[in-house]
Amino acid sequence: MILGIETSCDETAAALVTADGHIRANVVSSQAELHARYGGVVPEVASRRHLELIAPVVREALGSAGISLDEVEQVAVTQGPGLVGALLVGIAAAKAIAWSRRLPLVPVDHLRGHVASLYLEPDPVEPPFLCLLASGGHTLLLDVRGYDDEQMLGTTLDDAAGEAFDKGARLLGLGYPGGREIDLLAREGDPDAYDFPVARVPGLDFSFSGLKTALLYATRDLSPEELDARRADLAASYQRAIVRALVGRVREASGSKRIAVVGGVAANSELREALPDAALAPLPLCTDNAAMIASAARFARALSYPAYLGLDAYASR
Ligand code: KG4
Ligand code: ZN
Repeated sequence: MILGIETSCDETAAALVTADGHIRANVVSSQAELHARYGGVVPEVASRRHLELIAPVVREALGSAGISLDEVEQVAVTQGPGLVGALLVGIAAAKAIAWSRRLPLVPVDHLRGHVASLYLEPDPVEPPFLCLLASGGHTLLLDVRGYDDEQMLGTTLDDAAGEAFDKGARLLGLGYPGGREIDLLAREGDPDAYDFPVARVPGLDFSFSGLKTALLYATRDLSPEELDARRADLAASYQRAIVRALVGRVREASGSKRIAVVGGVAANSELREALPDAALAPLPLCTDNAAMIASAARFARALSYPAYLGLDAYASR
C-alpha cells in the first residue's frame, strides 16, 4: 500500500494506491477559489494553505480507503518541478510520516507522475507510446519507451498549453483556472468565427504566445457589450487553435506509435474528441492528484531511512 502526496501547485492531494495499481482513495483539495481573486496562483498563499490542509487531506484519504497508517508500506511524494515552498510542505509531511514508522520514501518527478496516471487500474496502458503531456506548467512530447525511460521530443518555446488557456480566459473575462471555463463556453460558440494562427516552429516544439497576442488584438477594441456577444465564438476559435496545434504535432511525431495524452489539458473535451484513437488519462486523473504520484512510485527507486531525511525540492527539471 503506497501513500502518495502531491503539493506542487495549488492542489493539496493524498491518495492510497496498491502495488498492482488499484486506487483505494484519491483525495484532492483544490485551492483554486482561494487564488481566483488574484487571477493565478500566489506561491506564498499556496504554501500556507498546503500547511493547513495536508494533515486533514491525508487523514481523509486513509478514512476513505478504510485503513490506518499501520497498513501503509511506502510513502511517495512529489519532489519537483513546481513551486518550491508548496513542494516543501508535501515533502516535510511525507518525511515525517515515513520517519515515524521507518517506512521507505519515494521521491517522484511530477511530470513522470502525470505519465503514470496511465498506469493505473482498471485500464492501464503499457509503454511504449508517444505521450503528449499538456498542463499549466508544461507542454511536452515524450517518447515513452519504458516505465522509467522516456525521451523528450519537443517542448514549448514560450507558454504551456494550459497557460495559454488560462491567459486566454483572463482576456475573455472568464474565471480561473481558465481551461475548464473556455472548454464549457466553447460549446456554445462557432470555432470558425475567428481565424487564429497556429504557430509554425521548427522540429516538434510548440509556441502559444502568438496565439495569445492574436486573442488580445481581437478583444481589445471590443466594447463590453460586443465582448459579451462574441465571447463564446472567441473561446471556441481560440480553443480550436490550441487543439489544432497540439493534435498536429502529436500526429507528426507519432508515426505508427500509440498516442497517449496526460495532464490538465487532457481534460479538454475538444482535444479528447480530436484524438479518438489515443489513450487518454481518465478525467479525474488529468489535473493534479496524488494517485498518479503513488502510481509513478511503483516504478521509481525508494529511499530507505535515514537517506531521505535530506531530500530537497526542485523548482524545474
Ligand atoms: O496538470 P495540471 O492540474 O497542473 C499542472 O501541473 O500545471 O494542469 C492545470 C492546467 C490549467 O492550466 C488548466 O486551465 C488546464 O490544466 N485545464 C484545462 C481543462 N481543465 C484543466 N484546459 C483545457 N480544458 C480543460 N477542460
Ligand atoms: Zn501537473
